[in-house]
Amino acid sequence: MEDKRLLFRIRNLKKYFPLKKRSFLQREVGSVRAIDNINFDIYEGETLSIVGESGCGKSTLGRTILQLYKPTEGTVEYFGSRLSSGGPVGLQSLHVTQMRKYRKDMQLIFQDPYSALNPYMTVGQMIAEGLQAQSMLEREPKKNREYIFSIMEQCGLPPEVAHGYPHQFSAQQRRRISIARSLALRPVFIIADEPVSDLDAPFRSRILNLLLELKRDHGLTYMLTFSDLSLTKYISDRVGVMFEGTIVELAESTALHALPIHPYTEALLLATPSSERRRKGRTRILEGNTTSSLPLPSGCAFYSRCKYATQICREKAPMFKEHRPNHYVACHHPLG
Ligand SMILES: Nc1ncnc2c1ncn2[C@@H]1O[C@H](COP(=O)(O)OP(=O)(O)O)[C@@H](O)[C@H]1O
Ligand SMILES: [Mg+2]
Repeated sequence: MEDKRLLFRIRNLKKYFPLKKRSFLQREVGSVRAIDNINFDIYEGETLSIVGESGCGKSTLGRTILQLYKPTEGTVEYFGSRLSSGGPVGLQSLHVTQMRKYRKDMQLIFQDPYSALNPYMTVGQMIAEGLQAQSMLEREPKKNREYIFSIMEQCGLPPEVAHGYPHQFSAQQRRRISIARSLALRPVFIIADEPVSDLDAPFRSRILNLLLELKRDHGLTYMLTFSDLSLTKYISDRVGVMFEGTIVELAESTALHALPIHPYTEALLLATPSSERRRKGRTRILEGNTTSSLPLPSGCAFYSRCKYATQICREKAPMFKEHRPNHYVACHHPLG
């Protein structure tokens, strides 16, 4: 990626949720560190995939970047070229009303499109509602209709879908509807949270291809999340691997898939049922369970599941640093 232009700079981003004791006093008894000390940049025009198992913090990361959750700590600077000020904006310090101005630029496609779509509205009404909320409706109803149909068409939805309700469509079509609703707002940046998690293999590639097509046609930037690393290989420019609330490795997709540096990434690759990767007896090296709700030990979060762990891993959390050019890792014993 030559000529990289920064779109977001994310520094020390944390989101902790209070753990309340189940009593009428609702005392706080600690917190869930859903994301902890996240540092990375997002470049204009790229597809950045974030991958990690369920509960590692992917959805929280997306929502915190977009300020749908207020960060516990840290900054999200936005460098969008549409900014009138010219300089970056620290989204974390904006008031809700100030943030409204940027909402349209940054769309989140929710993990579960069924619950994200209003069951009482037709698809056309839903898209129009989004446009209205952003004052994007034209005076002439005909122009609005044409615009909505053209967006739907780009998302592979025939015009008659506009008159249907969410429950009348398949999971794949609901995905398309969610995408159309976001795309209609002409965003700069889209976070699609597990965009294919509920789809069978052939539909997965159709939706991923659609996303790539739309990205090309509209000059979008993506952050996509996945729980399956193999899905990130061909569609991503860069891939970040998350484990228990932190990013443990971040690199260009080809480099990460060919030469992973973090033992967790290696484990994920080996666990993938792909013949080029599978080696005898090494498919199962993840052990233990995730315990992000418990106080973190002082050492590496992956310590108890890592076959390369030594004393230092137990005692000291590794720093997230550039191990090779553009290849970041948080590990005391980086591979290769
Ligand atoms: N609104 C919330 N309140 C309390 N805990 C939450 C909330 N959202 C997420 N969590 C916790 O934060 C962690 C990360 O969750 P999430 O971001 O949903 O992970 P993922 O999307 O990777 O499955 C989990 O332990 C989850 O239980
Ligand atoms: Mg999630």
